[in-house]
Amino acid sequence: MNSPWKLVWITGGGSGIGLAVAQQLVALGAQVVISGRHESTLIESCTQVNRQNLPGSLHPLVCDVTSLESVQVAWQRLMLDYAVPDLVLLNAGNHQPVSVDGFSPEPFKQLMAVNYFGVVNCLSVLLPDLLSRQRGQVGVVASVAGYSGLPTAAAYGGSKAAVINTCEALYPELKAQGIQLSLINPGFVKTPLTDKNRFTMPFLIEADQAAAAIIQGLQRKRFEIAFPRTFVMLLKFLRLLPYSLYFRLTRKLLP
Ligand SMILES: NC(=O)c1ccc[n+]([C@@H]2O[C@H](COP(=O)([O-])OP(=O)(O)OC[C@H]3O[C@@H](n4cnc5c(N)ncnc54)[C@H](OP(=O)(O)O)[C@@H]3O)[C@@H](O)[C@H]2O)c1
Repeated sequence: MNSPWKLVWITGGGSGIGLAVAQQLVALGAQVVISGRHESTLIESCTQVNRQNLPGSLHPLVCDVTSLESVQVAWQRLMLDYAVPDLVLLNAGNHQPVSVDGFSPEPFKQLMAVNYFGVVNCLSVLLPDLLSRQRGQVGVVASVAGYSGLPTAAAYGGSKAAVINTCEALYPELKAQGIQLSLINPGFVKTPLTDKNRFTMPFLIEADQAAAAIIQGLQRKRFEIAFPRTFVMLLKFLRLLPYSLYFRLTRKLLP
């Protein structure tokens, strides 16, 4: 199979899910540009992938998605050095558990800044160019944690729920203007982000499996790309329950 996309931009592409998607697309012959805040991480990832002599190539581009100015500079660099990407994967994100003990706005502000406003900043910068061409594909990585409120995920889940709602709202208008938007909701994936978790993660999958599911879903132009299937079904069922039953189940997740 050849890559359906010639040029791809992935935010948060220096590690985890973003890097796994980048690597698989490079293996299919794509030119992929990965972004993150740390240039050394990006360069190291590019060196590792490019030394495999795959048909495509990987390139670093520093960008902090929480800063609109940083996203504007990165997009201009992308235009100057490459072109308008056929696919953009807005994947940069972070996680921080919260509890009612020591409750503070800080983790909420931090996670909204990267997980939600990171997506909004990028969309605000790239949409004018995509809309003027009346084509393009954008994948946005949210999480199954955004489906409904789960213990310790008040800040993370809230930021991802906002991403899900915004994508649902934007999809029809973008579709009408020739832009394909996809919402990606992974369950637990083994990455540096989840390596910090000290609990057993149900239905945990490898980053390579997540990347394959994302690429397949994007290729099929699905709106929602959610995996692994059984975990997604369970969580979608959970949100249909009356709260009395819902809380009886979710309180078992308390640490
Ligand atoms: N792993 C899971 O189980 C799971 C499940 C559901 C959803 N997700 C979502 O999947 C996405 C990727 O996560 P991952 O698990 O692959 O974690 P990861 O390996 O930690 O990757 C996250 C990437 O985002 C980048 N990043 C963080 N803050 C950024 C910022 N302000 N600007 C630009 N880049 C930034 C990081 O690079 P720098 O630190 O160098 O900036 C890092 O490369 C996230 O949106 C996450 O919420 C993950």
